[in-house]
Amino acid sequence: MRIVLMGPPGAGKGTQAKKLAEFFGVPQIATGDILRAAVQEGTPLGKKAKEYMDKGLLVPDDVMTGIVKERLQEKNTENGFILDGFPRTIPQAESLEKILEEMGVKLDAVVNIVVPRQELIERFAGRRVCEVCGSTYHIKYNPPQKEGICDKCGGKLITRADDDVRTVEKRIDVYERETKPLVDYYQRKNMLVNIDGNRPIETVFEDIKSRLRGEG
Ligand code: AP5
Ligand code: MG
Repeated sequence: MRIVLMGPPGAGKGTQAKKLAEFFGVPQIATGDILRAAVQEGTPLGKKAKEYMDKGLLVPDDVMTGIVKERLQEKNTENGFILDGFPRTIPQAESLEKILEEMGVKLDAVVNIVVPRQELIERFAGRRVCEVCGSTYHIKYNPPQKEGICDKCGGKLITRADDDVRTVEKRIDVYERETKPLVDYYQRKNMLVNIDGNRPIETVFEDIKSRLRGEG
């Protein structure tokens, strides 16, 4: 299964990508996670990316395309992948098409998770992520069993550096301007599957699965 997950910041891409990756037995490729790992390690990529991420801006297309191309050529993508957070601009989508063409494979679907802006803001205020394994929680909608501790690895739960209200507003504006045009782009290619993301996590997951099976 080769899927792109799209949607505004906070739509639940990461939450659903993890569940879909497990269900289909393919890797989740989350460009935001790759960048945050580089920032934490202090690599040249991390240093460059941090300047953009802290401001809520997109990292340049050529940098992102290089990262994704390299990652897609690793062996464990043979049976598919869940792309979470890429492509985010039309040039990125065009590059992805070329990369996949070179690999001789095609996307099965582009899943667009739709959530109203006000709901997104509330999600950021309550999001907590594990500083060790990156698992995502919400203090109200998806709380850990023990406050502040990751269920999966026992790591400490923290708030993400770009989750303050001002940066979040900026990220949503950048989404509207630079990423939303991709909805039309994939619609025209007949690849788009729109999903109402303003429902409980499990309901959204079941809906995505049934739509991917062509049942909805
Ligand atoms: P990235 O990490 O991709 O962030 P994002 O797109 O802003 O999206 P988020 O990860 O914030 O949200 P999500 O949709 O994954 O939601 P989540 O599942 O966590 O990118 C970060 C930065 O990296 C960018 O700003 C940019 O600088 C750079 N970058 C990355 N990719 C790039 C690219 N391709 N090009 C250029 N730059 C790039 O859920 C959110 C919260 O809601 C959680 O607390 C969760 O528990 C909760 N939740 C989830 N689903 C539900 C539900 N159904 N009901 C209630 N709560 C829910
Ligand atoms: Mg995410």
